[in-house]
Amino acid sequence: MRLHFRTAGESHGKALVALVEGIPAGLAIDAAAVDQDLGRRMQGYGRGARMKIEQDRIEWLSGVRAGETIGSPIAMLIHNRDWANWEEVMSAEGTPGELRRRRVTRPRPGHADLVGVLKYDRVDARDILERASARETTARVACGAVARKLLAEFGIDVGSHLVSLGGIRATAPSPLPTPLNAASDASPVRTLDATAEAEMITRIDTAKKAGDTLGGEMEVVVHGLPVGLGSHVAWDRKLDGRLAGMLMSIPAVKGVEIGMGFEAARRPGSEVHDPIVGATHASHLHTDPVDATHALHPHADARGGFRRLGNNAGGLEGGMTTGEPLVVRVAMKPISTLMSPLKTVNLATGTEANAVSERSDVTAVPAMGVIAEAMVALVLADAMLEKFGGDSVAEMRRNFEGYLASTGARWAEIRDTPAPEEEA
Ligand SMILES: Cc1cc2nc3c(=O)[nH]c(=O)nc-3n(C[C@H](O)[C@H](O)[C@H](O)COP(=O)(O)O)c2cc1C
Repeated sequence: MRLHFRTAGESHGKALVALVEGIPAGLAIDAAAVDQDLGRRMQGYGRGARMKIEQDRIEWLSGVRAGETIGSPIAMLIHNRDWANWEEVMSAEGTPGELRRRRVTRPRPGHADLVGVLKYDRVDARDILERASARETTARVACGAVARKLLAEFGIDVGSHLVSLGGIRATAPSPLPTPLNAASDASPVRTLDATAEAEMITRIDTAKKAGDTLGGEMEVVVHGLPVGLGSHVAWDRKLDGRLAGMLMSIPAVKGVEIGMGFEAARRPGSEVHDPIVGATHASHLHTDPVDATHALHPHADARGGFRRLGNNAGGLEGGMTTGEPLVVRVAMKPISTLMSPLKTVNLATGTEANAVSERSDVTAVPAMGVIAEAMVALVLADAMLEKFGGDSVAEMRRNFEGYLASTGARWAEIRDTPAPEEEA
């Protein structure tokens, strides 16, 4: 990995810290670009009271000077406004093992509470849930926003939209609107299907009344990628594996599909694989309405001069980008904290109990999509750095343009000077 990121911070601690290493010098960036994604992560119908308390914003600690990255590690601080209500409970001062207010001894099924208490030898599950909480993903989104800015320099756009919630499926328009987030962010559940949206909102209200929670699926779509990011030569360089690993690390995410996904396993190959054509035969078959890389580099072809008659592969073959849009779907289970709590064991008394019902979301699938965008942006920025390197954005751009110029000419060369014999 060329790009590294780390996060620190507890849900009700003083602040979160986000650290990104490996971003080249000369990337224009301001706090507003990061704050915009933090704001998007806080939205979504069905969120709990916490999101009304916080107003997430970053403060630069390092790595940015005069509105530009300088190549050094980028550190960002995000204050938890809720800290004011939790200072006594969460303070670093005190004696080990002391019993504090808001101790958690009734672990929630589906959360990290019980396993964490056993593994880390704790008596209070708060020591576990404070870090297991998805509040941590705020710092991931900050890191992802920096990666998104780097990708945008090369005409790459990362967006997402909701495809199912609580068992209700949305039908997305084809082609998808561009830019995708401008359309999906306008919906309270980030879906492009107004009829499904109304049903989903009713289902969230019903679940809330019943003290229950809901899961769902988001689809992340990336336009403007050049052919050939990632590699088939080593397992840990395959882009599909790198994407799936990062996406599966999001709390409550239980599945990732690329392109046609699991459905491909049920169909014959003739219905799955996308036929290849030369671009000259395919101008009317343009499957990518944005193709921002083309707009940036009108003489270059980000797809090597070839096109696919479809995109069931979701923009990946052999662990490498094909240049078609990347399409990844991410499934999130229902939130583990139920207001009508599930059965558990009280760790203080050993008796049967109801699991703790701390203030919580009914669903957070729309927000999960913003986190998934961040994870995808970080993987892709890493793959861009792997392919094009460079200590400055200008150096990276020279490498990128040189590659597009030579790769983009390949189809024309093949067409104009065909090989004498057909290969076996
Ligand atoms: C954006 C987002 C918000 C979440 N909000 C909550 C919440 O309010 N309450 C809760 O119990 N779990 C919430 N979760 C899920 C838990 O963080 C997650 O289920 C838990 O950490 C256990 O991890 P696992 O589900 O990956 O096993 C949220 C997850 C995400 C991605």
